[in-house]
Amino acid sequence: MSEKNFKPVPVISINHASMRVSNPKRMVEWLQGIFGFPIVARQGESVVFRVGDGPQYFSILGEATDKPGYTHFGFSVENFDPNEFIERLTALGYEQSIYPDPGKFTLRNRGTDKGGAVEGTPELFIGDPDGIIVQIQDEKYAGGSGLLGDVTYAVPEEAPTKGLVESIELNHCTLGVSNGAESLKFYQSIFDLPVDTYQGPTPVLRVGTGNASLVLYELSGPEAKGVKPRIDHTCFAVKDFDVNRIEKDLGEFGMNVLGQSWRATGPLQTYYTQRMPDRGGDANGDTKELYLTDFDNNVIQLQDIRYAGGCGALGDVRGTGVDKPFEPCGCGAH
Ligand SMILES: [Fe+2]
Repeated sequence: MSEKNFKPVPVISINHASMRVSNPKRMVEWLQGIFGFPIVARQGESVVFRVGDGPQYFSILGEATDKPGYTHFGFSVENFDPNEFIERLTALGYEQSIYPDPGKFTLRNRGTDKGGAVEGTPELFIGDPDGIIVQIQDEKYAGGSGLLGDVTYAVPEEAPTKGLVESIELNHCTLGVSNGAESLKFYQSIFDLPVDTYQGPTPVLRVGTGNASLVLYELSGPEAKGVKPRIDHTCFAVKDFDVNRIEKDLGEFGMNVLGQSWRATGPLQTYYTQRMPDRGGDANGDTKELYLTDFDNNVIQLQDIRYAGGCGALGDVRGTGVDKPFEPCGCGAH
């Protein structure tokens, strides 16, 4: 055990999120059709899309799978030094392992076969209490080569069209967790992630100094029955967030537009929810949250660039519930 007293590390941003799908080629075309993401790197067959001006990215694993879903998300930190970070994780009682099982961390050197540096691009992964995997990288990391993973294509491969929405950043990742208190303890033990808003019982942890967040949604109550802990969805902040306009464009793109709905019922649907005061939203239903499902029922959310998981029509009013903790109403849905 180290003598050092490590303080939680500030997180610069949600660096990336990655997904595996049943048909990667089809998914790449679909994502580019909606978002117009350029491809800035490949890790073997996996495709790295730049989000906004980068280095944030979204990636699709190259191998087809019959178990689709998000595989992990990444946090970026200032002056990332894998050895220093390993010392830190060890001091906190986390163990190194060949796979990032719950409470364990893994260092891998991504070689040239996976788009990394000749000497290997060091990548650090840790498993949260549910085994959801978080990758920790430098703030310059862009899924490319070089020791920091910051070397991407000199000329990005532009998408065939500019897409339907312009995404400037990964706004949040929402994790469905088995025990909210345990997950909160885990993330805050390593990272400086203050809770700045509650959506009912669900804490919204501020990431960086902008609008990004990590949302820890506890899987409890009838809605969560049979749902395994996982990355529930990721959200992109988009310019000109207008639910009606986006729904219309997605409909023309071939998506099934459900309108207001609590959830999707299948793939390739778009729907919006009205987050109400019991979940930190506006009393008149103005806090609209727009979602899409892909071919495999993976969920992607779209929000305004000002969205911060809070109240108001744009979800930009922060601080809900922080002074006054949420009281479950006893209905069993929270
Ligand atoms: Fe969300």
